[in-house]
Amino acid sequence: SRTIKLAVIPGDGIGPEVIAEAVKVLDAATASENVKFEKTPFSLGAARFLETGDVLTAEDLAAIAAHDAILLGAVGGVPGDPRLANANIERGLLLGLRFSLDHYVNLRPTVLFPGVPSPLSAPGNVDFVVIREGTEGPYVGNGGAIRQGTPNEVANEVSVNTAFGVERVVRYAFGVAAGRARKNLTLVHKTNVLVFAGSLWQRTVNALASEFPEVTVDYLHVDAATIFLVSNPSRLDVIVTDNLFGDILTDLAAAISGGIGLAASGNINPEGRFPSMFEPVHGSAPDIAGQQLADPTAAILSVALMLDHFGLTDAAARVNAAVTADVVARTTTGSASGPRSTASVGDAIVGLLTLEGLS
Ligand code: NAD
Ligand code: IPM
Ligand code: MN
Repeated sequence: SRTIKLAVIPGDGIGPEVIAEAVKVLDAATASENVKFEKTPFSLGAARFLETGDVLTAEDLAAIAAHDAILLGAVGGVPGDPRLANANIERGLLLGLRFSLDHYVNLRPTVLFPGVPSPLSAPGNVDFVVIREGTEGPYVGNGGAIRQGTPNEVANEVSVNTAFGVERVVRYAFGVAAGRARKNLTLVHKTNVLVFAGSLWQRTVNALASEFPEVTVDYLHVDAATIFLVSNPSRLDVIVTDNLFGDILTDLAAAISGGIGLAASGNINPEGRFPSMFEPVHGSAPDIAGQQLADPTAAILSVALMLDHFGLTDAAARVNAAVTADVVARTTTGSASGPRSTASVGDAIVGLLTLEGLS
């Protein structure tokens, strides 16, 4: 039987709570498959930093890189904690992993499940994928400040966009679009203002369009994209965009499709030279941490993305079906019993896997 080595990074806040449920579902969904996920826990994040002063050491990175995939909960301490002022956990750990492991595709699907209430009055059929570039843009850390702390301070954050980096993620996005029913790709950028990066992205899309004649191509400025995400999200199929625009759009996408507790993501290295990393879009949610209030569904759907990544499409489909059944049940059984704990949502999804012969 096949063994997949999985690095598990529960992280901070609600991270460990949602990862416990994701692991339960992973085990249940693969019980009948000829595959074994061999898990190694890694204690990383704000809590670890406060203990040891380390964020991501060379040894950590080498040990994680020796796995086939990574499942991550969330990292980050309580905003404003003075002990973390200079720690930069998110940059050092999360971006450290995404950049070191060349996760140039940040895959963030948005689906409005049947019965899930959306804050939009007429959302329509919401089913799109944001492909967020993951290793370039304003996230590279190519910045600096002079005269810091003076009235004459100048702070720069430089957005880096390479022909190589843009081409590979746009090509991937065309491939995703070509495999979907509507075969539409929308480039989201800000070409009217960010003229150098915008031009590179637009020329790259134009050049690749001829290789994918079956894919129709659109363009939206990022500000207008936020309008359409709210006024007419069903027009969207596949979006390809810069690292920062993709970050912002995917929290909005989560909000229109039932909330951040349902939004999953994959940080993919498509060539498989490095392990890909699967994680909910949300953060460590210090406001609800430790109370079993977090929805583990985003982490569980991230497991489904991971199963798909390994070609375990039946197991992935079963997890998606169990989640769909669970979200339908939540909305039809009413709230008489009150909100469900994190663990009871995980247990319910495992129960649905078993009950419906899905496991
Ligand atoms: P957040 O996503 O942690 O929380 C935003 C809001 O959504 C909060 O009200 C929270 O309670 C709610 N929420 C989040 N996940 C939820 C879930 N599963 N179920 C129910 N409600 C949920 O964003 P934030 O408050 O901006 O950030 C908190 C910390 O997390 C910061 O340190 C930030 O840098 C970090 N962060 C980490 C990641 C990551 O590890 N991938 C992502 C985003 C933010
Ligand atoms: C996300 C998060 C991260 C990002 C932060 C915590 C570095 O917001 O995964 O969406 O901006 O990519
Ligand atoms: Mn984000």
